[in-house]
Amino acid sequence: MTGSRYAETYAAWERDPENFWREAARGIDWLREPERIFDPAAGVYGRWFPDALCNTCHNALDRHVANGRGAQVAIQYDSPVTGTKRAFTYAELLREVKALALTLRGFGVAKGDRVVIYMPMVPETAVAMLACARIGAIHSVVFGGFAPRELAARIDDAQPKLILSASCGIEPARRVDYKPLLDKAVELAAHKPDAAIVLQRPQGPCDLTAGFDHDWAALREAALARIDAGEESPCEDVLATDPLYVLYTSGTTGKPKGVVRDNGGHMVSLHWSMEAVFGTKAGETFWAASDVGWVVGHSYIVYGPLLKGCTSILFEGKPVGTPDASTYWRVISENGVKVLFTAPTAIRAIRKEDGEGRLPKRFDLSRFAALYLAGERADPDTIRWAEGALDKPVIDHWWQTETGWPVAANPLGLGLLPVKHGSPGVALPGYRVEILDEGGRPLAPGEMGAIAIRLPLPPGALPTLWNADARFRESYLAALPGYYSTSDGGFLDADGYLYVMGRTDDVINVAGHRLSTGEMEEAVASHPLVAECAVIGMRDPLKGEVPCGFVVLKNGAAPEAVEGEVVAIVRDRIGPVAAFRRVVVVDKLPKTRSGKLLRRTMKALAEGEGFDMPATIEDPAAIDLVRQALAR
Ligand code: COA
Ligand code: AMP
Repeated sequence: MTGSRYAETYAAWERDPENFWREAARGIDWLREPERIFDPAAGVYGRWFPDALCNTCHNALDRHVANGRGAQVAIQYDSPVTGTKRAFTYAELLREVKALALTLRGFGVAKGDRVVIYMPMVPETAVAMLACARIGAIHSVVFGGFAPRELAARIDDAQPKLILSASCGIEPARRVDYKPLLDKAVELAAHKPDAAIVLQRPQGPCDLTAGFDHDWAALREAALARIDAGEESPCEDVLATDPLYVLYTSGTTGKPKGVVRDNGGHMVSLHWSMEAVFGTKAGETFWAASDVGWVVGHSYIVYGPLLKGCTSILFEGKPVGTPDASTYWRVISENGVKVLFTAPTAIRAIRKEDGEGRLPKRFDLSRFAALYLAGERADPDTIRWAEGALDKPVIDHWWQTETGWPVAANPLGLGLLPVKHGSPGVALPGYRVEILDEGGRPLAPGEMGAIAIRLPLPPGALPTLWNADARFRESYLAALPGYYSTSDGGFLDADGYLYVMGRTDDVINVAGHRLSTGEMEEAVASHPLVAECAVIGMRDPLKGEVPCGFVVLKNGAAPEAVEGEVVAIVRDRIGPVAAFRRVVVVDKLPKTRSGKLLRRTMKALAEGEGFDMPATIEDPAAIDLVRQALAR
C-alpha cells in the first residue's frame, strides 16, 4: 500500500457527504455561515449551502490582503508574444479590481446583471472577472478564437448589459484584431448591450465607436483616483447559490450550452481541490497553461489559485514557437512553479521539437512537483515521454466544463496513488462514478459503458444551464435517471481506476479545445452547393483530434471551388480554433437503412482503420465511394 490518504478521505466523504463539505467550507470566509449544507428539494437536483452569504472576490483578494498576504504576487503575467512580464501583488490586484468594480457600477451594472468578457490572455481579463464577482454581476468570458457569430450567440443568450474587450490578441503568427469581431458580433446579435469598455493594447490600438465604446485606460485612471482618495468599492453580498458566471460550452447542437457556476460551492470545491488534488498550498505557485476563455482558465488560472492564496501564472504564449519549446521550463524555473497543468497536445508539440527531452535539463526545476494533464485523452506514450524528460510525476486527470473541477485524478495533496498509464485516476470525493449500460444498469469492472455520476453532483459542479432548466434535465439527467450523464464512455478497473475512451456524442477535442461537430455540420450545410454533409473527428498526432468534413455536392458543382469555400465558412462562423481544414467530396454518405449517418465507419475510413461492415448499411457501395474520395 502507498501512504496515500485518498482511500480514507473518499470513505469519509461517502460516509457523510454533508459533513465532508461542511468541513471543506471552513476554508472560506462567509458573510453568513452555511447552516444548511445541502437542500435536496431546491434547484433541479438540490443546492449546496442554500442559506449562506458570501462574496467570491472577497475570498480571492480582500481576505488575503487583510491576512498579511498583500505583498505576495497574486498574478504573474508572462507574455513571450509581447515581450512583457508583470507581477501583480494581492494588494495591487485588489486596487485594480476595486477600480474596475467602481467603473462597472458607474455603468449601472448591478447584482445579477451579465457582463460579457471577450479578451485575450492579459491581466485585465482576470481583473474583469474579479470585478464582476465583487459587485455580484455574472460574467461570461468568450474565448478569443471564436468568430463573431459565436460571440453573438452568447450575447443573445446571456443578454449582457456591458461588454469588456480589448483591441487585439496576439497569436504567434498574426495579430487578432478583436474590435472588428466585436462590432460584427454586436451587429449580428438581437440583444444590444449598453456599452463596451475596450482595452487599447500598444500592439494594435483600434478606433473606438463614439457613444458605445469607452477607453479602458481613461476609466481606470479616473476610478483609481477615486479609490486612492478613499472611496469605497465594497463587495456585494451574494447568496452562495447566486451565479458567479456563465461559461458556454459546445454540445450536440449548434446552440452552445450556458454552464452556470454558483458562488459558494465553487469556492469550497476549488479551495479544497487546490491542496488536496494539486498539492498546492497558500504561498506556492500554480500554473495552468490554458486560456481564461476555457473552464481550466476560470478554475485554475483565476479562481482556484487566488482563493487559496497562491501565486498564479497568466501566460500569453504557446508551448512552442514563443520563442521555442523551452518556454514552459523557463516559466517554471523563473517562478518556482510547483504544479503545471496543461493539455497533452502542448506536451506533444514540445516533444515534436525536443524529442530527446534535452531542454528541461537546462532549467532549475527543483521546486516543480508534478505535471497535471487534462482536456483530452493523455496517450501513454506522451505521458512516458514527459516522465522521462522531467523526472517528475505526470498525472492525467479528467473533468469537464460542467463539473468545474476534477472528477477523477491522482491526488498529489492526499499522497499519490500508483500511476496507471492510460487512466486519469480514481473518483474524487464528491463524485460517485459508475459505468452504466444503455438501460442504466451498472456494469462490472472492465466492462465498457457510459460514464455516469450519481446525483447529486458535488459543490462547484453546474446546478443548471443558464435560463434553461429543461434543457439541463434533457441534456444531462434524462437518459440515466438518478445520474448525471457525462457523455464520455469508458470503464473502471478492479482497483477503481477510471479509463476514459472518448465522447459518446458529437463533441470532439481539438488540441484540448471542445468543439461540436454538429455545429460544424450546420455551418458546412449552409453552403448553397452542399446537398448533404457529415463532420467527424479524426485522430491527429499533434492535436489529438481534428475535424474532417465529408460533403455531397448538388448536381454540377465543382469540388475544388467548394472545398475552399466550405473551409472558409467554418472559420468564418465558428472561428480559427475549429482547425477545420479537411473537406472530402463524396458521391454518397454511408448511412443505415433508416437514414442514420454511419459516423464511426467514416471515422475508421478517414483514419485508415479496419472495420466490420455495419449490418444495417443501406448501400455497401457507399464505403468504396468514400475510400476512393479519401485516396484522391
Ligand atoms: N484568439 C484568436 N485566435 C486563436 C486563439 C485566440 N485566443 N487561440 C487559437 N487561435 C487560432 C490560432 O491562431 C490558429 O489560427 P490559424 O488557423 O490562423 O493558424 C487556430 O486558432 C488554431 O489554434 P491552436 O489550437 O492554438 O493551434 P496552433 O496550430 O496554432 O497551435 C498548439 C498548436 C499545439 C501549439 C496549440 O494548440 C496549443 O498550445 N495547444 C495547447 C492546448 C491548450 O492549451 N488547450 C486548452 C485547454 S486545457
Ligand atoms: P471541456 O468541457 O472543454 O473541459 O472538455 C471536457 C471533455 O474533454 C470531457 O468530456 C472529455 O471528453 C475530454 N477530456 C477531458 N479530460 C480528459 C482526460 N483526462 N482524458 C480523456 N478525455 C478528457
